[in-house]
Amino acid sequence: MTNGFPADSIAQAADWLRASAVTVCLTGAGISTESGIPDFRSRGGVWDRFDPKDFDIRRWLGSEEVRRRYWAMSREGYPRVMGAEPSKGHAALSRLAGSGRLSLLITQNTDGLHQKAGHDPDEVVEIHGTSHFCVCAACGERITRAEVQERVERGEEIPLCENCGGFLKPDAVFFGEDIAPERLERAVTGAESAEVFLVAGSSLAVRPAGALPERAVLSGARLIIVNESPTRLDGKAHAVLRGKTGDILPALVEAALA
Ligand code: APR
Repeated sequence: MTNGFPADSIAQAADWLRASAVTVCLTGAGISTESGIPDFRSRGGVWDRFDPKDFDIRRWLGSEEVRRRYWAMSREGYPRVMGAEPSKGHAALSRLAGSGRLSLLITQNTDGLHQKAGHDPDEVVEIHGTSHFCVCAACGERITRAEVQERVERGEEIPLCENCGGFLKPDAVFFGEDIAPERLERAVTGAESAEVFLVAGSSLAVRPAGALPERAVLSGARLIIVNESPTRLDGKAHAVLRGKTGDILPALVEAALA
């Protein structure tokens, strides 16, 4: 057993990673929970405490009350994201990429922790955008979230664009919003070119990101899923490593680089 996991599945998955010329990884909120950032669908996660309908772009733009609720929540939540440190899982994936054995990392997270762990930003696709910038919903003006945090902490309840007076929102993809075409294209091309597709810390509940593993398998990739609880695609995986990303990923990368 490796750290309490079936050693054969870690060793087997490591063999596939070692032999793979093109490995692509998709991460979700489950790689950042060990950094102190709650995920969405576990008990006590974000959707247990906030209504996901408040994160639908039409509702958000149409309701001052929804925007006020968002900025009040975000005023408390953003400092936690800013202060978070990468987990052992982020560090393991950065090590794998640094060794030349991870071609592309697609993350659904907007916390920037992969880059903070030293992952080359050019090899990271933030498919749902980033929490570290805000964008004007009207004119597209982009400013840092830190600047907006200062304004919110000074009492601005619903920060507006200083360029045109439009509504500022995080530069993250809300429900009902399209993913930037260039990001989606890069993610789909990566999935379809992968020999090994590694999922870490995601329920795979949300498309199109959650469907990338299926595209990879249809294109001939081996699918490895590292997750604490069952996912929608466990039945299609060639290896399911059940447990914490912060425990499994370091063991998996260590074995793959041995
Ligand atoms: N180690 C391994 N798995 C973990 C850990 C951990 N330390 N912590 C949580 N998990 C697992 C949970 O069991 C869950 O299956 O990670 C998964 C996280 O799933 P979600 O909360 O659904 O997060 P994610 O898959 O990233 O959601 C995708 O949904 O709401 C939208 O835009 C949001 O990007 C998000 C998208």
